[in-house]
Order: sequence, then C-alpha cells, then structure tokens
Amino acid sequence: MSDRYAVIGHPISHSKSPLIHAAFARQTGQEMSYEAILAPLDGFAAAVAAFRAAGGKGMNVTLPFKQEALGLAEKPTERARLAGAANTLRFDADGIYADNTDGVGLVRDLSGRLGLELAGKRVLILGAGGAARGVILPLLEEKPALLAIANRSVDKAEALKAQFAPFGALAAGGFGDFAGGEFDLVINATSASLAGAALDLPPGLFAPGALAYDMVYGPSETPFMIQARRLGAAQVADGLGMLVEQAAESFFLWRGVRPETAPVMAMLRNI
Ligand code: ATR
Repeated sequence: MSDRYAVIGHPISHSKSPLIHAAFARQTGQEMSYEAILAPLDGFAAAVAAFRAAGGKGMNVTLPFKQEALGLAEKPTERARLAGAANTLRFDADGIYADNTDGVGLVRDLSGRLGLELAGKRVLILGAGGAARGVILPLLEEKPALLAIANRSVDKAEALKAQFAPFGALAAGGFGDFAGGEFDLVINATSASLAGAALDLPPGLFAPGALAYDMVYGPSETPFMIQARRLGAAQVADGLGMLVEQAAESFFLWRGVRPETAPVMAMLRNI
C-alpha cells in the first residue's frame, strides 16, 4: 500500500492541498496518497490519532487546528514553537514531528517567483494575529533592514515585537504610525480581505518599486491588492504562491524530495 498523507481542518472541502500534493507526487514519482479529513471542532486530536493508527505518515493542518497541532508534537521545530502553530505533522517512530512551513513558503515565493531579495529591505506586516505570527521568524532570518508590524489593536503588534525582538530589527504600532514609511514590501496578514473590508491604510506606505503581498488568494485581485495599487504599490501579488511553496516544503519534510512549484502554480491558476 502507498504511504498515506492528509490535510485536516474544519471546514476542509475548499482545500487545494489534495490537488497540490497529487501534482507533486506525480511530478516526482512518489508512491503516496493524500486525502482531506474534516475533523469535528472538538475532535482534532482523536482524528489525528485515528489517521496515525490507520498507518498515516503525516498531515497538513489548517484552520482552526494549527495551534492544537503544535500541542500534539513531541518534536516541534523552533519556528513552529515561535509561530505558536504547526501546519505540518510527521509521524516518526520516536514521536510526532511538527513544523510550520508557512513562513518559509512566503519567503520562497518572494525570493523565487517574485524576485524580491529581502536583505536590507524595509518590510511592513499588516495584522498581528496567527497569520502574522507564523511568518515573522522566517522573514527576520532574511535580514531585512526593518520589519514593522502594524495592527488595528496596537497592543497585539507590541506583543509580537517583544516576542521576536531577539531575532531582528522590529517596530510596532497602529496603521497610522507608519504613514510615509516607504516600505519595499507590505504584507497583508489581516483577515480583512476575507470579510471584504478595506484596511484603513495611511499615505506613503510604499517606496518606489514596492511590492504589496496579500497572504489571501482568490479568483481575482483581492480588495487589498486593488487598494495597494491605488496607494502606489508598483507590484501586487496574492498568496497562491505561498500556498504552493508551503506545500512543497511539507512535501520535502515527508518525502525528502523537493518538487518544482512553477508548473503547479500554473495548473492552479488555470482552474
Ligand atoms: P489570523 O489567524 O488569520 O491572523 P486572527 O488571529 O483572528 O486571524 O487575526 C486577525 C487579524 O486581522 C488581526 O490582526 C486583526 O486586527 P485586530 O487584532 O485589531 O483585531 C486583523 N483584522 C481583521 N479585520 C480587520 C479590519 N477590518 N481592519 C483591520 N484589521 C483587521
């Protein structure tokens, strides 16, 4: 029987992960299956245990279980611990290994497909929830000149700044505090796009040539992408590339093989 993997979440039917991992497996000739599992909101740990007992080798974890997933792990990576969440589990003989590949997925999409070298750049993250926390350490590891965190509730941005202060140059504040900040990269890690709400962005956020990146993706440009272009962003991108890159990193953690992401991106865009 081929090795079994799955993505687990609630809801789960919208997930593109089965499609992505099937494409990776075909491309690399790996014998494996990958399914989607809907766990009840109060039944995450039991669903993971059942999949593992049935011979499962690993799982991707999506909303709302990423924090709980970290709690199940005997062997969490540092970046997962700092993110406070795991999106990848591997069932090893000596326990559950957990990682968070979201941040490295974002960095790979930026440096690869979008050609943005982060070293020495000014970066702004909008939002201070789980999505923001999950990507801060991998961003800091690229040595930006500054990583600023702007949030509607300033105390949450301040808390993230304090948590990650040992790892790089950080600033925190409300959106208005960064007016005229001229950032090379502005990342939307808020959930505002999901609710269709526009952000209260001040003028002067974008440096000449700046990239605006929305961690959310959709069939057309997100509200943030449209807003950013109007405010002077030279280039805009949605989070589909991050989705594919985080999946590639999970695939590598399980199979030891790095799939090519560009053909899978192209396939998803055409659906
Ligand atoms: P996630 O795990 O997706 O990050 P979360 O932890 O609920 O979700 O965080 C949502 C983030 O989006 C928060 O930073 C939130 O700002 P607050 O901390 O001030 O609530 C932000 N957010 C959601 N809707 C927003 C809106 N309309 N304008 C500005 N920020 C918004």
